[in-house]
Amino acid sequence: FGVNITYIYQGKARGLADAVYRVKDVITEDKFLVYLGDNIVPYDDFSSFLSFKGSASILLAKVDNPNSFGVAVIKDGKVVKLVEKPKETISDLALVGVYAFTKEIFEVIENLKPSWRGELEITDAIQGLIDKGREVQYKIIEGWWKDTGTPKDILEANSFLLDKYAERKIKGEVKGSSIDGRVFIEESALVENSTIRGPAFIGKGSKIINSYIGPFTSIGDNCVIENSEIEYSVILDNVRIEGVSMMDSLIGNNSNVIRGKKWTKLIIGENSRVEV
Ligand code: G1P
Repeated sequence: FGVNITYIYQGKARGLADAVYRVKDVITEDKFLVYLGDNIVPYDDFSSFLSFKGSASILLAKVDNPNSFGVAVIKDGKVVKLVEKPKETISDLALVGVYAFTKEIFEVIENLKPSWRGELEITDAIQGLIDKGREVQYKIIEGWWKDTGTPKDILEANSFLLDKYAERKIKGEVKGSSIDGRVFIEESALVENSTIRGPAFIGKGSKIINSYIGPFTSIGDNCVIENSEIEYSVILDNVRIEGVSMMDSLIGNNSNVIRGKKWTKLIIGENSRVEV
């Protein structure tokens, strides 16, 4: 993107406020933005978001399951209370993972105590600003947004983003195949004797042979898919799939999914789930 990026390693996951505190010495501006990497948010007017008055600004969205988020209580157009994963429903306005702060947040984080889940919560830090009498501004966003915290969320995000942004563009090589609808085939990919139904994405250098790739499927770079059918799935990079029909699946980098001759043999990483 033509920008310089400095990564700071948090080490042990001690909460969002702890992560934010680690950038204390690299922030040079008065105001800064925090955007949680697992959130997909339909909002990009960051210059107006950053021109807030007071000590912080938060994005909120109405949700059906407020107990899974941090929530904000609004009274007379003001944020009066914030609670992380409330046990009782006190508001249906969830904190979306986009925040803007002044450097004052660092002082509050210094005095923060861990929550019941053992984390320094950014929600508690913002409450700390309110407790000090500081103003916290907010904006309520409409429409689809996602905290991609579970495999199901990632599949849903993939479907949403493909539906919204996929275009038909065939840069790679296609032989004896049918490419239907909004299918993006990256350069140096090969699709042979196969059907691809959009919206779908095929990454660089991937080979799809004698296969069917159904809608809402993203295939990463340098994959080999042979004699298989795949729908509504996300396949990351360097994956090999042979002789398998799958849907609603999420396959991590460098994995192999191959139909065995007799016995099922599995080498499975952490937090996996297999249905055979
Ligand atoms: C975090 C925040 C929560 C916020 C959510 C948005 O939750 O703690 O306040 O509503 O992100 O994605 P976590 O992902 O840590 O459960």
